[in-house]
Amino acid sequence: MDKIVVEGGSRLKGDVWISGAKNSALPMMAAALLSEKESVLSNVPDLRDIHTMIKLLRALGAKVSFEEGVVTIKPGRNLKSVAPYKLVSTMRASVCVLGPLLARLGRAEVSLPGGCVIGPRPIDLHLKGLAALGAKIEIKHGYVLVKALKKLKGSDIYLGGSFGSSVLATANVLMAAVLTSGKTIIENAACEPEIVDLTQFLVKMGARIQGEGSPHLEIEGVKKLSGVEHTVIPDRIETGTYMFAAAMSAGDVFIKKCNPGHQNVVIDKLRQAGVRIDKTKSTIRVRRRAKLKPVDVTTLPYPGFPTDLQAQMMALMSVTPGISVITEKIYPDRFMHVSELNRMGSQVFLEGPSAIVHGVKKLSGAPVMASDLRASAALVIAGLVAEGKTDVHRVYHLDRGYELLEKKFSSLGAVIRREKE
Ligand code: EPZ
Repeated sequence: MDKIVVEGGSRLKGDVWISGAKNSALPMMAAALLSEKESVLSNVPDLRDIHTMIKLLRALGAKVSFEEGVVTIKPGRNLKSVAPYKLVSTMRASVCVLGPLLARLGRAEVSLPGGCVIGPRPIDLHLKGLAALGAKIEIKHGYVLVKALKKLKGSDIYLGGSFGSSVLATANVLMAAVLTSGKTIIENAACEPEIVDLTQFLVKMGARIQGEGSPHLEIEGVKKLSGVEHTVIPDRIETGTYMFAAAMSAGDVFIKKCNPGHQNVVIDKLRQAGVRIDKTKSTIRVRRRAKLKPVDVTTLPYPGFPTDLQAQMMALMSVTPGISVITEKIYPDRFMHVSELNRMGSQVFLEGPSAIVHGVKKLSGAPVMASDLRASAALVIAGLVAEGKTDVHRVYHLDRGYELLEKKFSSLGAVIRREKE
């Protein structure tokens, strides 16, 4: 297994480009199953999760190729309806084949994703939405079976849960509804840019959807969809990660091929922290000369502060003089990075769903264990400003979501490399 070794102390300086969004590409790859015809997605990042989705689509009978950021998916006529445990257990996003398979085949059998390190991750909202369209749901032998015993029919569906809207439940219900006769209304739909991207992809395929980007989606079912070409949006979480890294290292980083319109809350928080941000339509320049100031953050569904940047924000606040409070409202247990950051000398104290961060002058490099994708990114950026060497173990988490991480950070002047354990 590989580890990432970071030597702290470099000020990040230079240009970095942003890859396509993994969390946009994954549901869209599943959505391609809604047509027999070929769809082509470009700007797809070369990541482990993308390869897992390719394996899953192939296991379902689709022909898939992936070359230089372009995924070509030809589902054909004879899809299979079973998403096996082996693949679903390695990537929860596999669950987003449920909606398309139900719509295309009238049935889907998907291994139930278990909990994961960021906390319990139920799929009750996915199932509630599909049941509202008329599907029968059964849980058997670790699989969820979703069947249309008679023709599915559009319906009014409220998709909010205890933690607000759900990104992939919205995706699943939306993907099933586009081929379901009649009108479906989804209330409390997720408004994340990845859902907007999916909506645009579906509309290109011939779907009739109104309310794009709002919590109220209206879908008029159609009989058939066609294959299309689409370019995946830039990854807003990768963008935010480089923004935090630039701010932490008192750097000057020019981020290219991103969408600043998706970063409003991050820009606002960084400006409050005393960081200078300049943006154009597709670039963001992050500069810091002054001392950082503490900022409180609460994670919320979009356009609120993303849970997927909570750990990176914590790394930044760890070296910010004063006290800041970071509250996690999407996954209240998503704090596995706290003990690892504290091993590097940070002073973070957990109080229920909040982390109280007492900024320290310096972090000190240490061997640390990555627990999930975003926690790993936080440990890497903490390592960039720590004294000495930080070894981030269990790098496979990072490989799920950050394309060319060492290369991109190296090009900004960081001393970072991958080594065999
Ligand atoms: C997506 O997961 C992302 N994954 C996650 O990114 C991200 O953290 C999350 O959205 C929140 O933004 C992909 O897009 C592939 P949710 P998703 O359903 O859709 C609760 C990363 O690091 N909930 O929006 O699975 C749930 O427990 C990953 O890239 C229910 O209660 O998340 C959570 O508290 C990690 N019942 C909240 O809703 C359900 O049926 C929001 O989760 C579904 C969710």
